[in-house]
Parts: sequence; structure tokens; C-alpha cells
Amino acid sequence: LSKKEFIYEGKAKQVYATEDPDKVIVFYKDDATAFNAQKKGTVQDKGEMNNKISTLIFRYLIDKGIPTHFIEQLNDREQLVKKVSIIPLEMVVRNYVAGSMAQRLGLEEGAKSPVTIFDICYKKDELGDPLINDHHAVLLGAATYDELKTLYAITDKINEALKELFLKAGLILADFKIEFGKDQDGNILLADEISPDTCRLWDVETGKKLDKDRFRRDLGEVSEAYHEVYNRLTNVLN
Ligand code: C5P
Repeated sequence: LSKKEFIYEGKAKQVYATEDPDKVIVFYKDDATAFNAQKKGTVQDKGEMNNKISTLIFRYLIDKGIPTHFIEQLNDREQLVKKVSIIPLEMVVRNYVAGSMAQRLGLEEGAKSPVTIFDICYKKDELGDPLINDHHAVLLGAATYDELKTLYAITDKINEALKELFLKAGLILADFKIEFGKDQDGNILLADEISPDTCRLWDVETGKKLDKDRFRRDLGEVSEAYHEVYNRLTNVLN
């Protein structure tokens, strides 16, 4: 299959049609944005690293029985994936206190949460992807209560699998965001990407941040962090 007409450009990826109407090609860019695109930049090799990291993680999750859009990695920057319509919800899981939740609740970043926290945000750039609840999601037509139940169940399973994987790589999975889509037959599939752009990853020994917070907070060694995560995952998964 080859790249046909351009379909969509997101902040970090582009999507292209293929000869097969059920399959699209995702191209990973080096572009980085933060704070609802108020901060913009590029990170050397980020597209390649996120493509490869995401591929490793999708394959790992498929092995664990998670339904995903992933078909195959095509080259350094591209994946072939099943075409889905994206459910406009960001499913966020928090194992540690960090980021927007730390801010919103007036808590210091870094503590392990005694419970796994599930947040959902409405994917709507104009509104800055607001935090919503299940009832809002139903009101917005983003999902039914039944679908939400499925989304939370798969998300929980993904969290358990990813915590274990990253720990083997010497990383704490502090929090992450995933997105789901529906295929032609209405099946709910994990979509988008899982990478240091979408996860907070802290070194087990030193607490060093090895994720997009290095870009968001101008911590330096951004590209190096993405390479480090890729190298560590490659070591545990091969
Ligand atoms: O910003 P916040 O603390 O709510 O982010 C929680 C987690 O979700 C982080 O791992 C962050 O990288 C991820 N996230 C994302 N895309 C967004 C918002 C958050 O990948 N639009």
C-alpha cells in the first residue's frame, strides 16, 4: 500500500489515505506543541522515536489482547493503521500526582496516588480540551454509558500492562493519555499513539523526567529523553 491523498494534519502527525479505504498511513512529525499549541517547537528525531516507541507499545498491547488500530510499521516515520473515526474523548490515567491534576487540586507533583485516577477530557481545541465527566460525554454524544464502560475497562487493562512494561524499563508511568476510535464495523480500537508525548515517564532511580515535560518546561535534553525511552523499551522487549 502506498501514500495517497493527504487527509488530516494534527499537531504531531499527518494522516494519508491508501488504496485500501479501510487503512490509512500515519506520518510522525518532529513538531511539538504544548499548552493547547501556545508553545511550539520541534524536537530532533521525535517523529522517528515516537513512531518506533508507539510501534513497540502497540505490538506489546496486541499480545496482551488489547484491540488496536495498529497494522504495521512501514518505515522510520510511518505506520499503517486501520481507519477509524476518533471518539472525541481523551482517556487520562494517573498513577502519580502530576501535571494539570496537581495544579487543579493544589497538590505537589510526585506522590504516588493511593488509587488509580481516570479522567476524561473532551477533544475540542477551541475549548482547550476541558475535563468532563461521564454524563457530559453522553450529553455531547461522544459516547454512550455502555461505550464508556468499555472505554474505562480497556483503559484500565492498558494501564496495568504499561505500568509493568515501563517498570521493567526502569520507568515509572506517572500518567498518560490515550484515544480510541471506531472502525467500520463499530468495534472500539485503541488509536492515536502512546509515546513520551502522551505519557509522563520518570526514571525509577533518579526521578528524571523522560517525556514531553522536558519540552513543556524547558528542561533541556528533550531529544535525548525520547532516544533513552526507545533504547530502554527495545532492551526489555527484545
Ligand atoms: O496535562 P495533564 O497533566 O492533564 O496530562 C496528563 C497526561 O496526559 C500526561 O501524560 C500528558 O502527556 C497527557 N496528555 C496528552 N495530550 C493532551 C493532554 C494530556 O497526551 N492533550
